[in-house]
Amino acid sequence: MQTLPEAGDTTRRRRSSRGTTGRGGRRVFNFAAGPAIMPRVVLAQARDEMLDWRGTGISVLEMPFTGPEFTEILARAIEDLRGLLAIPSNYRVLFLQGGAYAHHAMVPMNLLRGRERADYVETGHWSRRGIAEARRYCRVDVAASGERDNFTRVPPRQTWRLNPDAAFCHITTNETAQGLEFHWTPETGEVPLVADMTSDFLSRPVDIARYGLIYASAQKNVGPAGLTIVIVREDLLGGALPGTPTVFNYKIQADHDSRVNTPPTYAIYLAGLVFNWVQGQGGMPAIERLNRRKSAKLYAAIDANGFYRCPVAPADRSLVNVCFRLSDESLEARFLAQAHRRGLLNLKGHRVMGGIRASLYNAMPEEGVEALIDFMEEFSRHHG
Ligand SMILES: Cc1ncc(COP(=O)(O)O)c(C=O)c1O
Repeated sequence: MQTLPEAGDTTRRRRSSRGTTGRGGRRVFNFAAGPAIMPRVVLAQARDEMLDWRGTGISVLEMPFTGPEFTEILARAIEDLRGLLAIPSNYRVLFLQGGAYAHHAMVPMNLLRGRERADYVETGHWSRRGIAEARRYCRVDVAASGERDNFTRVPPRQTWRLNPDAAFCHITTNETAQGLEFHWTPETGEVPLVADMTSDFLSRPVDIARYGLIYASAQKNVGPAGLTIVIVREDLLGGALPGTPTVFNYKIQADHDSRVNTPPTYAIYLAGLVFNWVQGQGGMPAIERLNRRKSAKLYAAIDANGFYRCPVAPADRSLVNVCFRLSDESLEARFLAQAHRRGLLNLKGHRVMGGIRASLYNAMPEEGVEALIDFMEEFSRHHG
């Protein structure tokens, strides 16, 4: 829960563990798809440590990235993430820049390893972007596509056409724009499974050993934009395409602890605080339970009476990006404007999809979902 400060309101605000109450006094819940809501306690800790990190007399923003303080911050963040996801010891964790969109290109640059083709599963907006980037570097075979179903369901594994010569098989575990999520891990045999996990990373436990490589922009469940997390099996490193720029080369980055050039130091520090917060919530199993409860309540409200509708097949609905329409789409602009006045912010669907999207990342409290459901019920009573 947060409050919306009035323009020009610079007075100190009363704080609570969940949020602040400003002079405007208005509670807000931020449903943005990313950059997105962060835990208030993490923001408060960052504020408290901003000018003086733990008695050093300097801010994290001012620390040399090779110095002992930042080295400690980086090592701790990696260790905590390893603990949270039980990352096996033969996987490297990289904290890089570029965003997942840049890594759509870096993945084939690094993982083709002398091969010429890769399999991609097309499930929506972001997998399409990944395919378009990969086509710059290799032949892309679309192993399965949800296009015929308008990306409302994940193509079942038995329909995929996988190539044993593919360098890897790429999936997007959560389509942020469509609100479509893999709730299962595909078996791809000897071909390494690669996943863009940007929007569901750290929202549920993951069996890392099933994947060759996972990458994720941080600005959803981890928080700070500017950081991209890569988790890669060691034996897949070392075969980058000739001409791969040094800072894009995962092997060289791994050999230098993600510090070939200046890493996104402040974003890594914030990510470390979020990892601590997740530990404090009870780790991944507890976070997953909460995320399931939140999304189940919201989908139940959407399915309740036909006023709202979610086009995504129930089995493939996203836990973190709940996308829906009003049956009378002409009411959507009014819905969004009234929701905003109620402090329910950033509910507009992705620009290619339209409609409504409520992102329920880890930091969204259950009371935010309940406030949205109350508003939806009231709106449907008035306009139904
Ligand atoms: C699934 C997915 N992949 C890739 C991206 C691109 O991330 P970035 O803008 O950080 O490059 C996004 C952004 O929302 C996303 O949701």
